[in-house]
Amino acid sequence: MSKSSIKGSNAYCPQPLYLYGTYKEDGLPNYGLFCWCAYCYVENEKFVACIGEDKLTRDRIRQTGIFSATIVTENLLQDADWCGTHSGYDFDKSGRIPSEKGAVLDVPIPDKSVWTLELKVDYTLIPNENYDSEIYVCSIENVLADDRLVDKQLTFEEKLERIKPVVTMCCKYVPVEFRSLGDWGKMNES
Ligand SMILES: Cc1cc2nc3c(=O)[nH]c(=O)nc-3n(C[C@H](O)[C@H](O)[C@H](O)COP(=O)(O)O)c2cc1C
Repeated sequence: MSKSSIKGSNAYCPQPLYLYGTYKEDGLPNYGLFCWCAYCYVENEKFVACIGEDKLTRDRIRQTGIFSATIVTENLLQDADWCGTHSGYDFDKSGRIPSEKGAVLDVPIPDKSVWTLELKVDYTLIPNENYDSEIYVCSIENVLADDRLVDKQLTFEEKLERIKPVVTMCCKYVPVEFRSLGDWGKMNES
């Protein structure tokens, strides 16, 4: 295969999309859209989130140490895109995504969410001197899952088809195909 060297880019690296939810000082919910995140294992499974530069979501996480992370599905996409392109400093986003309170933490959960992590910041990495970007390593205190995802009658493919998750590549929103290519560790079995 012929290959070219190009400058640092994650263009074709599929990235998950999450709505991070926090309560503002006035008690109303605020949501931003985020994709610079990952999971890691330190004693147990952790969620890792990077917030780059000034954002209301970052300010609220700094102040409260908690937030929610909801996977973006097609039914949330239009509002998620709006939340990702409108700053919480300038817009009141609270009416855009009807929400309820988390089951364990005081964080907002979109009514239409199918999988939301309730997150507590364990520790914060501060990578630059400006103190504007931060990386949060978080413990997953609870997951609020749509009952269809814990239904034992539905297959994996049927669940995907119902929830329709969205990922991002090349600044586009991309659907996830409703099929599995195989299970971990079983790709070489005949
Ligand atoms: C697809 C997409 C992904 C984004 N991912 C991130 C991210 O991972 N980290 C980040 O700091 N900002 C990210 N943003 C930008 C924030 O969502 C955006 O600045 C938003 O307005 C922040 O809202 P807030 O001020 O209410 O926190 C992303 C935006 C889009 C459209």
